[in-house]
Amino acid sequence: MLLHRIEEVREQVSAWKKEGLTVGLVPTMGALHAGHLSLIKKAKEACDKVVVSDFVNPIQFGPSEDFDKYPRTLDADMELCNKEGVDIVFAPSANEMYGEGQKLSNDNLTYVCPPFFYVNTLCGKTRTGHFDGVCTVVLKLFNIVQPDYAFFGQKDAQQVIIIKKMVKDLNVPIKIVQCPIIREESGLALSSRNKYLSEEGKKDALVLSKILNNIKSCYEKGITDVEALKETAYNFLTEKHNMEYLEIVDKDTLENKTNADDNSIALIACRVENVRLIDNIYLK
Ligand code: PAF
Repeated sequence: MLLHRIEEVREQVSAWKKEGLTVGLVPTMGALHAGHLSLIKKAKEACDKVVVSDFVNPIQFGPSEDFDKYPRTLDADMELCNKEGVDIVFAPSANEMYGEGQKLSNDNLTYVCPPFFYVNTLCGKTRTGHFDGVCTVVLKLFNIVQPDYAFFGQKDAQQVIIIKKMVKDLNVPIKIVQCPIIREESGLALSSRNKYLSEEGKKDALVLSKILNNIKSCYEKGITDVEALKETAYNFLTEKHNMEYLEIVDKDTLENKTNADDNSIALIACRVENVRLIDNIYLK
Protein backbone atom coordinates (compact mmCIF):
# COMPACT_ATOMS: atom_id res chain seq x y z
CA MET A 1 0.00 0.00 0.00
CA LEU A 2 1.42 3.40 -1.02
CA LEU A 3 0.77 6.18 1.49
CA HIS A 4 1.81 9.83 1.20
CA ARG A 5 0.32 11.27 4.39
CA ILE A 6 1.67 11.06 7.94
CA GLU A 7 -1.81 10.63 9.42
CA GLU A 8 -2.59 7.66 7.16
CA VAL A 9 0.60 5.89 8.27
CA ARG A 10 -0.16 6.58 11.93
CA GLU A 11 -3.69 5.21 11.62
CA GLN A 12 -2.58 2.01 9.91
CA VAL A 13 0.31 1.36 12.29
CA SER A 14 -1.78 2.02 15.38
CA ALA A 15 -4.37 -0.50 14.12
CA TRP A 16 -1.56 -3.08 13.83
CA LYS A 17 -0.26 -2.20 17.28
CA LYS A 18 -3.75 -2.75 18.74
CA GLU A 19 -3.60 -6.28 17.30
CA GLY A 20 -0.25 -6.79 19.05
CA LEU A 21 1.74 -6.95 15.79
CA THR A 22 5.41 -5.94 15.61
CA VAL A 23 6.45 -3.31 13.08
CA GLY A 24 9.76 -2.91 11.24
CA LEU A 25 10.85 0.27 9.45
CA VAL A 26 13.32 0.35 6.56
CA PRO A 27 14.19 4.02 5.95
CA THR A 28 15.33 4.67 2.35
CA MET A 29 15.66 7.45 -0.16
CA GLY A 30 14.21 5.17 -2.83
CA ALA A 31 16.12 4.07 -5.96
CA LEU A 32 15.92 0.65 -4.35
CA HIS A 33 18.52 -1.99 -5.16
CA ALA A 34 19.49 -5.40 -3.81
CA GLY A 35 21.09 -3.75 -0.75
CA HIS A 36 17.72 -2.28 0.26
CA LEU A 37 15.99 -5.57 -0.55
CA SER A 38 18.28 -7.35 1.91
CA LEU A 39 17.14 -4.91 4.63
CA ILE A 40 13.50 -5.50 3.67
CA LYS A 41 14.02 -9.29 3.82
CA LYS A 42 15.57 -8.99 7.30
CA ALA A 43 12.65 -6.81 8.39
CA LYS A 44 10.14 -9.33 7.02
CA GLU A 45 11.86 -12.13 8.97
CA ALA A 46 11.90 -10.18 12.24
CA CYS A 47 8.57 -8.33 12.19
CA ASP A 48 4.88 -8.95 11.47
CA LYS A 49 4.52 -5.78 9.40
CA VAL A 50 7.07 -3.82 7.37
CA VAL A 51 7.06 -0.14 6.44
CA VAL A 52 9.54 1.21 3.87
CA SER A 53 9.96 4.97 3.75
CA ASP A 54 10.89 6.37 0.34
CA PHE A 55 11.90 10.00 0.72
CA VAL A 56 14.81 11.96 -0.73
CA ASN A 57 15.46 14.07 2.32
CA PRO A 58 16.42 17.61 1.25
CA ILE A 59 17.99 18.59 4.57
CA GLN A 60 20.76 16.00 4.41
CA PHE A 61 22.17 17.34 1.12
CA GLY A 62 24.63 20.23 0.98
CA PRO A 63 24.02 23.11 -1.47
CA SER A 64 26.48 21.70 -4.03
CA GLU A 65 25.41 18.05 -3.63
CA ASP A 66 23.23 15.85 -5.85
CA PHE A 67 19.75 16.46 -4.34
CA ASP A 68 18.23 17.53 -7.68
CA LYS A 69 19.71 14.70 -9.70
CA TYR A 70 19.34 11.98 -7.03
CA PRO A 71 17.44 9.09 -8.77
CA ARG A 72 13.70 9.09 -8.04
CA THR A 73 12.12 5.80 -9.12
CA LEU A 74 8.92 5.43 -7.08
CA ASP A 75 7.09 3.19 -9.59
CA ALA A 76 9.98 0.72 -9.78
CA ASP A 77 10.41 0.93 -5.98
CA MET A 78 6.71 0.10 -5.51
CA GLU A 79 7.02 -2.91 -7.78
CA LEU A 80 9.99 -4.26 -5.80
CA CYS A 81 8.28 -3.59 -2.46
CA ASN A 82 5.09 -5.33 -3.60
CA LYS A 83 7.15 -8.35 -4.67
CA GLU A 84 8.81 -8.44 -1.24
CA GLY A 85 5.47 -8.19 0.55
CA VAL A 86 6.11 -4.76 2.11
CA ASP A 87 2.95 -3.61 3.90
CA ILE A 88 3.34 0.17 3.55
CA VAL A 89 5.55 2.31 1.33
CA PHE A 90 5.52 5.77 2.88
CA ALA A 91 6.48 8.35 0.24
CA PRO A 92 5.76 11.81 1.66
CA SER A 93 6.41 15.13 -0.05
CA ALA A 94 8.86 17.59 1.54
CA ASN A 95 5.85 19.74 2.48
CA GLU A 96 4.25 16.78 4.26
CA MET A 97 7.46 16.09 6.20
CA TYR A 98 8.55 19.61 7.02
CA GLY A 99 5.38 21.70 6.70
CA GLU A 100 3.97 23.65 3.77
CA GLY A 101 6.38 26.32 2.55
CA GLN A 102 8.76 25.87 5.50
CA LYS A 103 12.26 27.23 5.05
CA LEU A 104 14.44 24.15 5.45
CA SER A 105 17.16 25.46 7.70
CA ASN A 106 18.10 25.21 11.34
CA ASP A 107 17.10 28.76 12.12
CA ASN A 108 13.57 27.70 11.29
CA LEU A 109 13.28 23.97 12.05
CA THR A 110 14.18 21.89 15.09
CA TYR A 111 17.19 19.75 14.17
CA VAL A 112 18.77 16.78 15.90
CA CYS A 113 22.47 17.57 16.35
CA PRO A 114 24.60 14.55 17.28
CA PRO A 115 27.90 15.19 19.11
CA PHE A 116 30.44 17.26 17.20
CA PHE A 117 33.06 14.51 17.06
CA TYR A 118 30.69 12.02 15.41
CA VAL A 119 29.44 14.37 12.71
CA ASN A 120 32.68 16.14 11.88
CA THR A 121 34.85 13.16 11.14
CA LEU A 122 35.01 10.93 8.01
CA CYS A 123 32.07 11.86 5.70
CA GLY A 124 31.14 14.76 7.99
CA LYS A 125 34.42 16.55 7.16
CA THR A 126 33.21 17.37 3.66
CA ARG A 127 29.44 17.02 4.22
CA THR A 128 28.73 19.75 6.76
CA GLY A 129 25.29 19.31 8.32
CA HIS A 130 24.70 15.97 6.59
CA PHE A 131 24.31 13.86 9.73
CA ASP A 132 22.16 16.51 11.45
CA GLY A 133 19.83 16.21 8.44
CA VAL A 134 19.94 12.40 8.56
CA CYS A 135 19.23 12.20 12.30
CA THR A 136 16.46 14.78 12.06
CA VAL A 137 14.59 12.89 9.33
CA VAL A 138 15.24 9.49 10.93
CA LEU A 139 13.87 10.66 14.29
CA LYS A 140 10.84 12.14 12.50
CA LEU A 141 10.28 8.80 10.71
CA PHE A 142 10.66 6.99 14.04
CA ASN A 143 8.03 9.28 15.59
CA ILE A 144 5.67 8.91 12.62
CA VAL A 145 5.91 5.13 12.24
CA GLN A 146 6.81 4.19 15.83
CA PRO A 147 8.35 0.88 14.75
CA ASP A 148 9.73 -1.76 17.10
CA TYR A 149 12.78 -2.28 14.85
CA ALA A 150 14.56 -0.16 12.25
CA PHE A 151 16.95 -1.60 9.67
CA PHE A 152 20.06 0.11 8.28
CA GLY A 153 22.92 -1.05 6.06
CA GLN A 154 26.54 -1.29 7.20
CA LYS A 155 27.49 0.38 3.91
CA ASP A 156 26.74 3.68 5.68
CA ALA A 157 28.67 2.64 8.78
CA GLN A 158 29.12 6.16 10.19
CA GLN A 159 25.38 6.79 9.75
CA VAL A 160 24.45 3.64 11.71
CA ILE A 161 26.88 4.48 14.53
CA ILE A 162 25.43 7.99 14.80
CA ILE A 163 21.82 6.72 14.71
CA LYS A 164 22.60 4.19 17.46
CA LYS A 165 24.12 7.02 19.51
CA MET A 166 21.01 9.18 18.96
CA VAL A 167 18.70 6.33 19.96
CA LYS A 168 20.72 5.69 23.13
CA ASP A 169 21.13 9.35 24.12
CA LEU A 170 17.49 10.27 23.45
CA ASN A 171 16.00 7.05 24.91
CA VAL A 172 14.24 6.16 21.67
CA PRO A 173 12.48 2.80 22.26
CA ILE A 174 13.46 1.25 18.91
CA LYS A 175 15.92 -1.55 18.23
CA ILE A 176 18.43 -0.67 15.50
CA VAL A 177 19.39 -3.62 13.31
CA GLN A 178 22.53 -3.30 11.20
CA CYS A 179 22.64 -5.48 8.06
CA PRO A 180 25.75 -6.47 6.05
CA ILE A 181 26.95 -4.69 2.90
CA ILE A 182 25.64 -6.22 -0.33
CA ARG A 183 28.15 -6.27 -3.18
CA GLU A 184 28.10 -6.96 -6.89
CA GLU A 185 30.04 -10.11 -7.83
CA SER A 186 32.91 -7.78 -8.76
CA GLY A 187 33.13 -6.56 -5.16
CA LEU A 188 31.54 -3.15 -5.77
CA ALA A 189 29.31 -2.20 -2.83
CA LEU A 190 25.76 -1.53 -4.01
CA SER A 191 24.72 2.11 -3.90
CA SER A 192 22.01 4.18 -5.58
CA ARG A 193 24.84 6.47 -6.72
CA ASN A 194 26.43 3.65 -8.79
CA LYS A 195 23.80 4.64 -11.39
CA TYR A 196 25.89 7.73 -12.14
CA LEU A 197 28.94 5.63 -13.15
CA SER A 198 29.85 4.54 -16.68
CA GLU A 199 30.91 0.91 -17.26
CA GLU A 200 34.54 2.03 -17.08
CA GLY A 201 33.83 4.03 -13.94
CA LYS A 202 32.35 0.92 -12.34
CA LYS A 203 35.62 -0.92 -13.02
CA ASP A 204 37.65 1.97 -11.58
CA ALA A 205 35.37 1.97 -8.54
CA LEU A 206 36.51 -1.55 -7.65
CA VAL A 207 39.59 0.08 -6.17
CA LEU A 208 37.61 0.91 -3.02
CA SER A 209 36.88 -2.72 -2.14
CA LYS A 210 40.36 -3.80 -3.29
CA ILE A 211 42.02 -1.30 -0.94
CA LEU A 212 39.83 -2.42 1.96
CA ASN A 213 40.31 -6.14 1.33
CA ASN A 214 44.05 -5.62 1.07
CA ILE A 215 44.12 -3.72 4.38
CA LYS A 216 42.22 -6.57 6.01
CA SER A 217 44.59 -9.21 4.65
CA CYS A 218 47.65 -7.16 5.74
CA TYR A 219 46.08 -6.91 9.21
CA GLU A 220 45.51 -10.66 9.23
CA LYS A 221 49.20 -11.11 8.37
CA GLY A 222 50.10 -9.15 11.49
CA ILE A 223 50.52 -5.52 10.34
CA THR A 224 48.71 -3.32 12.86
CA ASP A 225 50.33 0.10 12.38
CA VAL A 226 47.49 2.22 10.99
CA GLU A 227 49.75 4.49 8.93
CA ALA A 228 51.45 1.46 7.34
CA LEU A 229 48.06 -0.11 6.57
CA LYS A 230 46.81 3.13 5.00
CA GLU A 231 50.00 3.44 2.91
CA THR A 232 49.11 0.19 1.10
CA ALA A 233 46.27 2.04 -0.68
CA TYR A 234 48.79 3.76 -2.95
CA ASN A 235 49.39 0.42 -4.72
CA PHE A 236 45.85 0.69 -6.13
CA LEU A 237 45.13 4.37 -6.69
CA THR A 238 45.50 6.00 -10.12
CA GLU A 239 44.79 9.49 -11.44
CA LYS A 240 41.16 8.33 -11.93
CA HIS A 241 40.68 8.18 -8.17
CA ASN A 242 40.22 11.23 -6.04
CA MET A 243 40.46 9.90 -2.49
CA GLU A 244 38.65 11.89 0.16
CA TYR A 245 39.59 9.80 3.16
CA LEU A 246 40.85 6.41 4.23
CA GLU A 247 40.70 5.84 7.98
CA ILE A 248 40.94 2.96 10.42
CA VAL A 249 38.92 3.69 13.54
CA ASP A 250 37.02 2.01 16.37
CA LYS A 251 33.91 0.35 14.93
CA ASP A 252 31.65 1.53 17.76
CA THR A 253 33.00 4.97 18.67
CA LEU A 254 34.75 6.12 15.47
CA GLU A 255 37.81 7.02 17.56
CA ASN A 256 41.13 7.07 15.71
CA LYS A 257 43.65 4.34 16.39
CA THR A 258 47.43 4.21 16.12
CA ASN A 259 47.33 0.43 16.00
CA ALA A 260 44.48 -1.50 14.46
CA ASP A 261 42.83 -4.25 16.49
CA ASP A 262 39.92 -6.67 16.17
CA ASN A 263 37.51 -3.83 17.00
CA SER A 264 38.67 -1.74 14.05
CA ILE A 265 36.87 -0.77 10.88
CA ALA A 266 38.54 0.62 7.75
CA LEU A 267 36.46 3.20 5.89
CA ILE A 268 37.06 4.86 2.56
CA ALA A 269 35.48 7.66 0.52
CA CYS A 270 36.74 8.21 -2.99
CA ARG A 271 35.46 10.03 -6.07
CA VAL A 272 35.41 8.18 -9.38
CA GLU A 273 34.10 10.12 -12.41
CA ASN A 274 33.28 12.74 -9.79
CA VAL A 275 30.80 10.34 -8.12
CA ARG A 276 31.39 10.16 -4.40
CA LEU A 277 31.57 6.52 -3.31
CA ILE A 278 32.00 5.05 0.17
CA ASP A 279 32.79 1.59 1.46
CA ASN A 280 34.09 -0.06 4.62
CA ILE A 281 35.26 -3.34 6.10
CA TYR A 282 35.59 -4.76 9.60
CA LEU A 283 39.14 -5.96 10.20
CA LYS A 284 37.73 -8.96 12.06
O1 PAF B 1 20.70 5.93 4.16
C1 PAF B 1 19.80 6.60 3.61
O2 PAF B 1 19.27 6.25 2.56
C2 PAF B 1 19.34 7.90 4.25
O3 PAF B 1 20.41 8.58 4.83
C3 PAF B 1 18.19 7.70 5.26
C4 PAF B 1 18.63 6.87 6.45
C5 PAF B 1 17.01 7.02 4.57
C6 PAF B 1 17.72 9.06 5.78
O4 PAF B 1 17.26 9.88 4.76
